[in-house]
Amino acid sequence: MLNNLAQHYTHHIHADLLVKQMGRYVEHTKLLSGIDLGAGKGVLLDAALKKWEQIKFSGIDVDLDKNNHSDANRVAFFSADLLTDKSVDFLEHQKLIDCCDIAVCNPPFQSFQNNQLFRNLCKINKFEACYNMPVVTTDIIFLLHNLRLLKPGGLLGIILPDGILTGKRFQILRKSLLETHNIKEIIQLPDKAFSRIEVRTHMIILQKSVLQSNKIELRQVNNEGKLSKKLTINDVQLEKRMDYSYWKWQLQQQIKKNTIKLSDLNVEVLRGSQTKYFFEQQNTPYFHTQHLPTSPKKISFSISKASNVRKAKKGDILMARVGKRCLGRMTLVCNGSVPITDCIYRIRVPQKHLNIIWKSLSSRLGQEWLKANGHGSCAQVISKSDLMDFPIQGF
Ligand SMILES: C[S@@+](CC[C@H](N)C(=O)[O-])C[C@H]1O[C@@H](n2cnc3c(N)ncnc32)[C@H](O)[C@@H]1O
Repeated sequence: MLNNLAQHYTHHIHADLLVKQMGRYVEHTKLLSGIDLGAGKGVLLDAALKKWEQIKFSGIDVDLDKNNHSDANRVAFFSADLLTDKSVDFLEHQKLIDCCDIAVCNPPFQSFQNNQLFRNLCKINKFEACYNMPVVTTDIIFLLHNLRLLKPGGLLGIILPDGILTGKRFQILRKSLLETHNIKEIIQLPDKAFSRIEVRTHMIILQKSVLQSNKIELRQVNNEGKLSKKLTINDVQLEKRMDYSYWKWQLQQQIKKNTIKLSDLNVEVLRGSQTKYFFEQQNTPYFHTQHLPTSPKKISFSISKASNVRKAKKGDILMARVGKRCLGRMTLVCNGSVPITDCIYRIRVPQKHLNIIWKSLSSRLGQEWLKANGHGSCAQVISKSDLMDFPIQGF
């Protein structure tokens, strides 16, 4: 495993599921050619070869895997670095532009940059609205390459990290995708779909440059490949978030427009001013996500003498802001004071509302809301603006 190339291979159960679901949207007899960018060991490629027996595929990877046993008579393998400026011309020289009926892809998920290659691909794909995106990742580059290679009407099945589907900074990318292509289906994979890493990902199936169908199917799949019931969501709503967890929660709750939110109750939400590392260097006792109880519970502290750091005191609610498994963990400070790290939110509320807010946040529904509203591929984060929208039950 070469981690610098993000070689996390798709499980064959999910590869088979992806091509099976793609099969719902194409007529077998009309297909001629397919592609897999970042083919790796060929798990997706093999699933596609099995599914579409008449198609010839191209498989491209910077590190052509010697363990790739995909049928060499039906696959043309190319070694190429798809993250360099030259990749745009390379794909053109191979006569791969606008000619693929089918594309499958599990790209590397790594940070990249908003550079000439990115802007060039945005221009080619008419994604000019994304030109100024502050954060660009390698999976976005692979997505844009794929869109360029597909024929109009061609079908892409791609695995993307959670941030692309849920992060505010990628909203413009989602908008461009929804406006230009026809997203058919989105399937949330289990967080442990890839061995050795825990990362939330989703499979997106889309058709190139075809008028939007308006309604998009969202599902979740488990490790055994069993699909949940579908949710059908309007494409405009998906600009905000595209993940099944969030929409399942939204639909379950059917939040009424006049629900009182945290932001309506004169609440102050601040995170700690220093990192855990800072407190350790200073040898100062601190409160961090690891100290939060696994289920909501009240805690008393002694009085902290630390100065020039943000502290919590009696009546404050402390909650995990970021972490792998701690979203939703919280405590209510009963006594004393304690410095908090920047991974903790301090929620300070007017005394008269404390009871109802604590009950609401710590209830089963509150905990589900927090989990559904967290986003991020590895560590889950709850943003302050989302937290301010928290609906208070029973007000
Ligand atoms: C997440 S793995 C997926 C492999 C395979 N498609 C699968 O689904 O199991 C990503 C693949 O992208 C390849 N890759 C990473 N950086 C690349 C680059 N700059 N150009 C082309 N391929 C790259 C890696 O070698 C790896 O095989």
